[in-house]
Amino acid sequence: MTSHRPFAAVILAAGKGTRMKSDVHKVLHPIAGRAMLDHLLGVVDGLGPSKKIVVVGSGREQVERLVDARSGEVVVQEQQLGTAHAVQQAERALGGFAGDVLILYGDTPLVEAETMASMLARLNAPDAPAVVVVGFRPSDPGAYGRILAKDDGTIEKMVEYKDATADERALDLCNSGLMAARAEDLFRLLGKVGNDNAAGEYYLPDIVMLAGGEGRRSVVVEAQPWEMAGVNSRAELALVEAEWQRRRRLKAMADGVTLVAPDTVWFAHDTEIGRDCLVEPNVVFGPGARIADGVTIRAFSHIEGAQVATGAEIGPYARLRPGADIGEQAKVGNFVEVKKARLGRGAKANHLSYLGDAEIGAGANIGAGTITCNYDGFFKYPTQIGEGAFIGSNSALVAPVTVGRNAIVGAGSVITSNVSDEALAVARGRQEERPGWAARFRSMMSAKKKAS
Ligand code: UD1
Ligand code: MG
Repeated sequence: MTSHRPFAAVILAAGKGTRMKSDVHKVLHPIAGRAMLDHLLGVVDGLGPSKKIVVVGSGREQVERLVDARSGEVVVQEQQLGTAHAVQQAERALGGFAGDVLILYGDTPLVEAETMASMLARLNAPDAPAVVVVGFRPSDPGAYGRILAKDDGTIEKMVEYKDATADERALDLCNSGLMAARAEDLFRLLGKVGNDNAAGEYYLPDIVMLAGGEGRRSVVVEAQPWEMAGVNSRAELALVEAEWQRRRRLKAMADGVTLVAPDTVWFAHDTEIGRDCLVEPNVVFGPGARIADGVTIRAFSHIEGAQVATGAEIGPYARLRPGADIGEQAKVGNFVEVKKARLGRGAKANHLSYLGDAEIGAGANIGAGTITCNYDGFFKYPTQIGEGAFIGSNSALVAPVTVGRNAIVGAGSVITSNVSDEALAVARGRQEERPGWAARFRSMMSAKKKAS
């Protein structure tokens, strides 16, 4: 990564987020299972910031836990008087910090490290601009603020849509809102911003014109529109999610994963997946999935908090829940749910099972419909199944219970006590046979029906 001077990040998040219609703070809504704000803070952290300040309005308590966990600081903007006013609120928390300041929006979560680094690099280029503004050209410029810039990137003017003339509104270079400036320049210029405009707000872009008044030039750097996509509504949240997923799918394929139908595979922010994995359509990864090389994940599987070793086969229609640990070459088939359970190398649970709080030895075969009864309504109990054991179909293993190595459990058993190594355990009603009974029953009943 490019080296840069010490910098602080100021993340604006005091807007009301009314259009989300939510009790949850806007920046805490998830993209790929992780709060928008956390995506941003994660990228910022990768650049080694000196400070991170998040400016919030209401909902401070909600945001604070996340920001604390990342050693950032929350400051409150009591009244939302505009973006310039919002940045000013961070001044005290910055405590005389003398480096560069990167201004980000909490609801614009897809910004990449390269873009942030290039903003800082541009700010420190030999021509030393006062302000670096990230511009973009969306397919529909709508009501974004516009940037009037020369071909060399020098900004002549920035204007809010509400204040713009028809000619200015016709420009397609928009203000993303992201900026970089030196702390001393930034707070001096902010002190001069007024609110004599169409919205009666203190506009952050005004610092560009104020710098011009001091004889300093400001410049625009352009970013891809997808990277500057903001979230103001649930519909935009879904669009940003879709964009994140699109890029993650491309990365998976670039890393050597086959996605048969990429658009139908959903990754989480932290999914790890190895080379030569094959993922069939409609697979969903929740957080915490770690998939080794050469794993096949068949259609309609859901995998969360689970790890899968090399060469294993999952699904179709499998559910791996937190703590599932699937060994090499093991198989988890259709309608099998695995929670906090280890399947040893080559073990198989091919159909219709629940395996929870269990330890299943290498090469064991878990028959269709096997259930580990791990919960009595109060506590959870473990089940141990030895290497090479064979559990007959439709068995209930009532935990805590151990089935020994190479033992066999007869189909339909309810196993309540331990089974020794190499033993057969059968725990079900004995079959009895009454010869000719069925024929006698039928003739008796049809005679009765005729008489009625
Ligand atoms: C702002 C820009 C506009 C740009 C657009 C990009 C200004 C005046 N306008 O407009 O040029 O094209 O973003 O999305 O800067 N916020 C606060 N406190 C406030 C006001 C806003 O923290 O008092 C935060 C919001 O939470 C949000 C960001 O600042 O994260 C932008 O606010 P928003 O109201 O969306 O600004 P726009 O009017 O969209
Ligand atoms: Mg906005």
